[in-house]
Amino acid sequence: MDFLGSLLGEGSPTALPVVFGCEQLGGYEWGEVDIGEIRLAIAEAVELGVRLFDTADCYGRGVSESRLGRALGSGRDSATISTKFGVRFNARGGVFYDSSPEWCEVALLASLERLGTDWIDLYQIHYWDGVTPLDDTVAALERLRSKGLIRAYGLSNTAWESVPSSIWAGLSTYSMEYSLLNREHEDSARRAVAFGGWFMPYGVLAQGLLSGKYDIETRFGSDDRRSDPRYRHFTPAGLRRGMRMMETLRACARDLNASPAQLAIAWTRKMIPRCLPLVGIKSSRQLTEAAEGSVLDLPEDVTMRLLGAVLDD
Ligand SMILES: NC(=O)c1ccc[n+]([C@@H]2O[C@H](COP(=O)([O-])OP(=O)(O)OC[C@H]3O[C@@H](n4cnc5c(N)ncnc54)[C@H](OP(=O)(O)O)[C@@H]3O)[C@@H](O)[C@H]2O)c1
Repeated sequence: MDFLGSLLGEGSPTALPVVFGCEQLGGYEWGEVDIGEIRLAIAEAVELGVRLFDTADCYGRGVSESRLGRALGSGRDSATISTKFGVRFNARGGVFYDSSPEWCEVALLASLERLGTDWIDLYQIHYWDGVTPLDDTVAALERLRSKGLIRAYGLSNTAWESVPSSIWAGLSTYSMEYSLLNREHEDSARRAVAFGGWFMPYGVLAQGLLSGKYDIETRFGSDDRRSDPRYRHFTPAGLRRGMRMMETLRACARDLNASPAQLAIAWTRKMIPRCLPLVGIKSSRQLTEAAEGSVLDLPEDVTMRLLGAVLDD
């Protein structure tokens, strides 16, 4: 079933092919976040035709889900919600993964409560725990679907090789990091959509770097995850690489009278068929840019020029 295609009103001029990323709404380790601004952007997104809002039970430890539920309010029926399970916290605050069928069901009930809704449109396995057979998790998801508690399910952060071929046809989405600065999962994305699902890349702006507002001197405070070397686009080497990419991206953006962020978003849609880019949004301005970028039809020569810059990298 092409759940997202029909839900997004494929071909409808009012449905925008972009997902509103709500990790920032959780307010945790994303530097300065104005929750009022994000709430405003959510209301505007519904008006603009952004159909899908992506959150997770671990974003701000449930806070992102609660805030999203409240922000959508009575607009919930015209929005679709994606949330995820499988990232848990131990007593010391450390993270562990759990994609067991038991946890899948417990976590879902808690998400429904926080979001203030009776159903989840898209329920994703956030990370595979490396132990639970994914067939078993999918069987649990099918049970939840038959009860009407979820409408579709997807998989995230799990390498192609770890996924049994039996489950691909049931997955509505596959989500991995993908951008002009990270093409690691491009082949997997193409193979996944060939099964009929959608690719939902995150990090398409390389956590903001591809918007062009950062430079080689950029350093984040300890309240921002981008200060952690695991966010490799913001290490000194990552920034040098990013700035080389920005030269080409800026030049192409100037030629098209668009912004670098818009081109970075449009590029992912040009590269992968059935691609729904996720963009983490902190303000109305960022929302507008993402919405416009999602419908920008990148000319072939610009796509090739950007691809060349990636290959030269
Ligand atoms: N499945 C998963 O495991 C997974 C993993 C990560 C994220 N996600 C989802 O994907 C979403 C997006 O991923 P991400 O947040 O990591 O990366 P991203 O979308 O590449 O970057 C988001 C950041 O870029 C900046 N930004 C956004 N639009 C901008 C614009 N137009 N101009 C300038 N700066 C802009 C904002 O931060 P500043 O303004 O502070 O720079 C924003 O927080 C998340 O919100 C979450 O819902 C899913």
